[in-house]
Amino acid sequence: MNEQMKPEELLLRSQQYELSEDAGANPSANPTMGEIIATRLSRRDIMRGALAVTATTAAIVPLALETARAQTQASAVGASSGNTTPSFNFREIAAGSDENHHVAEGYDADILIRWGDPVLPGAPEFDPKAQTPAKQAVQFGYNSDYLGFLPIDGKSDHGLLVVNHEYTNEELMFPSLPGRQDLRAVRFAQMTKDLADIEMMAHGGSVLEIRKIGGKWQVVKDSKLARRITAETEMLITGPAAGHDRLKTGYDPTGTKVRGMLNNCAGGRTPWGTWLTCEENINGYFWGAMNEQHPENRNYRRMGIPGQWYNWGQYYDRFDINKEPREANRFGWVVEIDPFDPNSTPKKRTAMGRFKHEGAAGIINSDGRYVVYQGDDERFDYVYKFVTEAAVNTANRAANMDILDRGTLFVAKYNADGTGEWMPLIVGQGPLTAANGFNSQADVLIEARRAGDLLGATKMDRPEDVEANEKTNKVYVMLTNNSRRTAGQVDAANPRSDNRFGHIVEMMPEGGNHASPKFTWEILVRCGDPSIAAVGATFHPNTTKDGWFGMPDNCAIDAMGRLWIATDGNQPSRTGRADGVWALETDGAARGTSKLFYRVPNGAELCGPEFTPDMETFFVAVQHPGEPDEDDPNVKPASFDQMSTRWPDFRPDHPAKPSVVVITRKGGGKIGV
Ligand code: FEO
Ligand code: CA
Ligand code: CA
Repeated sequence: MNEQMKPEELLLRSQQYELSEDAGANPSANPTMGEIIATRLSRRDIMRGALAVTATTAAIVPLALETARAQTQASAVGASSGNTTPSFNFREIAAGSDENHHVAEGYDADILIRWGDPVLPGAPEFDPKAQTPAKQAVQFGYNSDYLGFLPIDGKSDHGLLVVNHEYTNEELMFPSLPGRQDLRAVRFAQMTKDLADIEMMAHGGSVLEIRKIGGKWQVVKDSKLARRITAETEMLITGPAAGHDRLKTGYDPTGTKVRGMLNNCAGGRTPWGTWLTCEENINGYFWGAMNEQHPENRNYRRMGIPGQWYNWGQYYDRFDINKEPREANRFGWVVEIDPFDPNSTPKKRTAMGRFKHEGAAGIINSDGRYVVYQGDDERFDYVYKFVTEAAVNTANRAANMDILDRGTLFVAKYNADGTGEWMPLIVGQGPLTAANGFNSQADVLIEARRAGDLLGATKMDRPEDVEANEKTNKVYVMLTNNSRRTAGQVDAANPRSDNRFGHIVEMMPEGGNHASPKFTWEILVRCGDPSIAAVGATFHPNTTKDGWFGMPDNCAIDAMGRLWIATDGNQPSRTGRADGVWALETDGAARGTSKLFYRVPNGAELCGPEFTPDMETFFVAVQHPGEPDEDDPNVKPASFDQMSTRWPDFRPDHPAKPSVVVITRKGGGKIGV
């Protein structure tokens, strides 16, 4: 269908869509810069690259605990070297969309694990017509997002794979339900407690022990390290907000423990071998109606609570804000989990702030402290970083286990002249005072968004992954889209109104110091179809018709310092292509050239891109396959009986299954080299 559609028609179609996953709730009057910027943009485009900080020699503390990475022989790409040779070597695949996934010639893309596969010892095989909460609690969860590979004994062929299960598509999962386009009330009426419980057990995360044998990866059966985390797993709340009155509920009068984590999107892994898993759209799990006079009303409005996407509140009081009005303050955090101890209690790290966290990707700074970059994925929300007080102890793992409880959270302001500032979120400083409702640091952290509003943070076009490149110290910010930005709201860092295809910002910390309050920045690429002038995409002209993408969401930086982009939201009706992984040149004369490496089946988005340290394996997560192309005027509601693919098993009696895919080179070798 997309081949018959002209680019102009695609553009028109895409103008009609609105992503429903966020609520666009930033009411602050933080400045937008309007026309001032137009001048600057053209000047910036001429100066592109000139403002960039020369790649600093990264004075990164050796990661004794991440020996495998250190053993990698790969060398950094020639940053700012003027090197015209593209750093990626593979034959690009054709963009498009069909019922299957596709990878570049010479590579295998194998299913490692799919929704419903056994995880814990004794777990039953999946039967979609006889699913129960108890079965789901020991099987692989739904909608895998973040993937983190943690080597065992420094090896790249044996390790733990940690996986986030972000959310559930009940209309695709359950044979008894009507399609997604039916009224929510109809769906809710048929969502029994059993189905809600299955959903709760399909959320959270999985820890898998995996091993490469004979060139093929497999999940180690009955591993002692295997674990399922669900919406019921007991967790601790730690850091400055722990124990605060605003976190106390009937279940937990101490404000220090909570059941479950919700909507865990992207994440990170630390050099001390823990998993950071990030709660994103937590508003959707709460229902009820907040009394206008309730003290949490302003806070909840800013987070879009209650979102009422799920009917769990019908069966559990804690998801009903009328009955348990503080429970929602206990979600929206970064959770740290030690996957090497299956009995460890996950910890919600309040020092890192509460908002709709996309990911939490860290880097050891030149002074040894750990710096974690974070995006708040909502239209007009902010980019954050967290800097620990303590340095990472590379000789003693245990010494690092709670360092994320103490440190400073900062929010970013992007100035029109290509400079930027990190503004600390500290109670008592600037406007963060009692007069504005901030009586303690706990208040600042619980309402990090509102603190950012008052500090004048820059309203961004949905910040998703934010990752630092250890080879160059540059930081990449995926800004996925923002169709609500008006012409009067454009600014230098978000230069397009009605930004349907997103862009990528590159940040250079001052002197390569990630703890510095200053940085400079550039736009690496504005996404979308470069052949449509009105789109304003800025890919390198060597990018082919298959090589451009829209809606950057997650990213991975491989051991050579090369950037790989995973997308969410490309569909035939919007961009004439499915989501996938694109390899994007960041340096030298080829900067901005993009190539398509892998694409997902119909209806899916691509998440979790993660390399093994030896770069011979590339893990990706295929999320929500089978959803309809919602902008196709002929689309029918997706349901168990009617979905856009039944990948990966193609069994008529089984639904499509969100799965983890492992990509390796036929015959072995590094990916894309
Ligand atoms: Fe879960 Fe921002 O995507
Ligand atoms: Ca995402
Ligand atoms: Ca996404």
